[in-house]
Parts: sequence; C-alpha cells; structure tokens
Amino acid sequence: MNQVQRVRSLRAAVQAARKDKKTIGFVPTMGNLHEGHLELVRTAKRRAEFVVVSIFVNPTQFGKNDDLENYPSTPEEDARRLAELGADLLFLPEQETMYPSGLDEQTVVYVPKIGDLYCGKDRPAHFHGVTTVVSRLFNMVQPDIAVFGNKDYQQISIIRRMVEDLAYPIQIVGVDTVRTDEGLALSSRNGYLDAKELRVASSLQQRLREMAEVLKQEPAVISKSALKSLEGDAKADLKKKGFKPHYITVCRQSDLKPAKKGDQKLVILAAAQLGKARLIDNIEVVLGEP
Ligand code: PAF
Repeated sequence: MNQVQRVRSLRAAVQAARKDKKTIGFVPTMGNLHEGHLELVRTAKRRAEFVVVSIFVNPTQFGKNDDLENYPSTPEEDARRLAELGADLLFLPEQETMYPSGLDEQTVVYVPKIGDLYCGKDRPAHFHGVTTVVSRLFNMVQPDIAVFGNKDYQQISIIRRMVEDLAYPIQIVGVDTVRTDEGLALSSRNGYLDAKELRVASSLQQRLREMAEVLKQEPAVISKSALKSLEGDAKADLKKKGFKPHYITVCRQSDLKPAKKGDQKLVILAAAQLGKARLIDNIEVVLGEP
C-alpha cells in the first residue's frame, strides 16, 4: 500500500488506476482505526477496484469543549491494518493541504435544516466542519463510491444531501454498525470509558431496541404526545443507569424530521454522555415489517 501526503501524488495514483479502467472507492477516516472502520474498507474493496483511505483529524469538526488535542492517534497500527486488508492508497494530508486559506477563512459547505438538528444543535459547526472537509476530500480523490458508517446516521444523511445538492458524481454507501457482543457500537470514543462505564454503555442500544419494539407492536403510538412520553421514558431509564442523555428522538429516515402518523420508515437517533464519552447510536424501524 502506498502512502501519500500531497494532492499531486494522490491524483497521479488515482489517474493511473483510472487509466487501468479501475473504479475508485474512498473511505475517509480520522484514524485510530477499529473493526468498524475496517468493515468500511472491506466494503469499499468489494465495491471498487482501487481503494483510497484518508486519515485526517479534522480540527473544524471539533467544538471548544471537544478534546481535539487528545484525539487518539495510532498511525503505524492503522497503516499496518489497512495494508493487511489490501487498501491501495493511504492519503495523509497535512492541515495546510486541507485548509489552504487557514481554518477561519476557508470556504464552508453548510447543509441547512438536516444539519441543524440533533447533533447539529448540540455541537454547533460540527457538521459544517464535516461537510467542508468531506467535500474537499471528494474533490481531491474524485472517487466513484465513498463509504461511511451508518452509526453516524445524521452524518451520512447530511453527506447524501450534500452529494445530491452539489451534484457530486459519487455513490454514497452506508455500512451497518459493528457492535460488541453486548450491542455497544464500536467507536474511537469508547476508549474514554472506564471498565464500569463500558459495561453500562451497551444499555443505550438495548433501550433503543426496546423503543423499536414498542413502535412495531403499537404503531398507533406515533402521535406527538405519545412519542414524547416514549422518548421521555427512555431518557429517564438511561439517566438512572448513569447516562446524561442529550437527545433520543424518533424521526423519519428520509429527512430526519420528527416522525408523524403515517410515516413508515423511521430511525431512532440518540446521543448521551457517559463519563467522558459522548456516545451516539441509532436503530432503524420499518413499520409493517415483521
Ligand atoms: O466519520 C468520521 O470519521 C469523520 O467525520 C469524517 C467523515 C472522516 C470527516 O472528518
């Protein structure tokens, strides 16, 4: 696997692959790769013939209270695992390459509404940072497909919207969340949890599964007030377990607006603080399906 830092070298490698009639797959990451990331790379390998992975810890998606300085970094281990999986090219841009006009003067890509909800409200500017860096990476790599995890459900929904609105000729592929046996979604942030918190953390997904069951069994629950109490009960249960819930919300898959009577394709999105980690998770629910 080749490693490059400069856009010129990246483009030369991608162009050579294109000349060989290879399709280009792309997996953007911030490094500290775990099994969830590796699953994205495996998916890219199945769907494309030349796979580019980027590692860039993007400062603009971190808020004032987020711990950018201490974001875990394991570059040698990451490169080794990517090479083992057969990734073709690792792109490791410097900050100046991604933000040539400086962090404060860079053109910003902003996806309104869907980007302002939930995590967008909790972490202002977070998604502007994500869409800005991803759009720049897309222009640099120019892939045919790009692979993202469904764990960051709002992120992938926003990226799909950006791709549609800005007419990127890129297919966005979502990959199911990789979980521990207990159901905890793998995340670099799990590293902030101590042993006791790690045992508690999987209750987030368990509680979402219980909510999904209620929705499936009693679709009539979808009225504004009934949803409010379903969400409220889940928050109260999680608080008892030691979480500080930020939001738990039943919304529709298409635009992430709160679910209404008649909506069938739903997703429950959740974010909750546990110790030093802000955990997010989700579960899709399709009403009328067994
Ligand atoms: O999901 C992530 O790791 C990041 O948000 C991404 C997509 C690599 C952009 O920095």
